[in-house]
Amino acid sequence: MVDSLLWARGLDKQFRSGTEPVPVLTDLSLHLERGESLALTGRSGSGKSTLLNILCGLEMPDAGVVQVLGETFDSGKPDAMNKAEARWGNLRRHQIGVVFQEANLMPALSLLDNVRLRARLAGHNENDCQDWLERLGIGELSDRYPDQVSGGQRQRAALAMVFAMKPTLILADEPTGSLDHHTAEAVIGQLFELQARHGCGLVLATHDPELAIRCSQHMDLGHQPGT
Ligand SMILES: Nc1ncnc2c1ncn2[C@@H]1O[C@H](COP(=O)(O)OP(=O)(O)OP(=O)(O)O)[C@@H](O)[C@H]1O
Ligand SMILES: [Mg+2]
Repeated sequence: MVDSLLWARGLDKQFRSGTEPVPVLTDLSLHLERGESLALTGRSGSGKSTLLNILCGLEMPDAGVVQVLGETFDSGKPDAMNKAEARWGNLRRHQIGVVFQEANLMPALSLLDNVRLRARLAGHNENDCQDWLERLGIGELSDRYPDQVSGGQRQRAALAMVFAMKPTLILADEPTGSLDHHTAEAVIGQLFELQARHGCGLVLATHDPELAIRCSQHMDLGHQPGT
């Protein structure tokens, strides 16, 4: 287990609606090796984004353990959570590429400069940044600012940022949600190609059943124990 890319055990997460607790994840476990992909499916509100947030340290579970790239985060052991924020931050800067449901680009930077910044923060040179935008079909928009392009184009720029950081693990939250079928196919092709070429892991939240069956594992969050 120790050398796994990513594993999680016994994850619980609930939110509150007024005074009522609303369980979202109950005793959830997963295990992903390098080169594997995991599709998360389930109805809207079933906890896909919440789980992805937990797997990159942006949300804390109420219970359970996450181990990613040898770093252990055990919510039951305060000692193990020592410096957790700094450790998660380090992982997200260098190893975990996250594509959120809403592309989060820096508004004051062009698309190309957004990609360059991401590469630089991860410690890589910027030589292939324009190339990533080209491969995702938005090379000619590289000088535009995020508010000058469409939502789908922003989403592709966010993917280019993740590709440019050469991550070991990619967490992608409906990365093709605002793309037409043809463009989505091309973007997903790039995602799987990158994953195969670099042998990284991929966790993908999607509503698309055809995309889910292309992944090596599939977890339907509508069918967790306790739901
Ligand atoms: N910060 C929060 N406070 C309270 N409730 C929250 C919070 N974040 C998420 N939730 C609730 O947790 C549940 C799971 O939300 P989540 O965003 O993980 O669902 P999802 O499966 O990603 O849905 P979608 O397919 O619509 O993106 C939802 O009922 C949501 O309203
Ligand atoms: Mg979501």
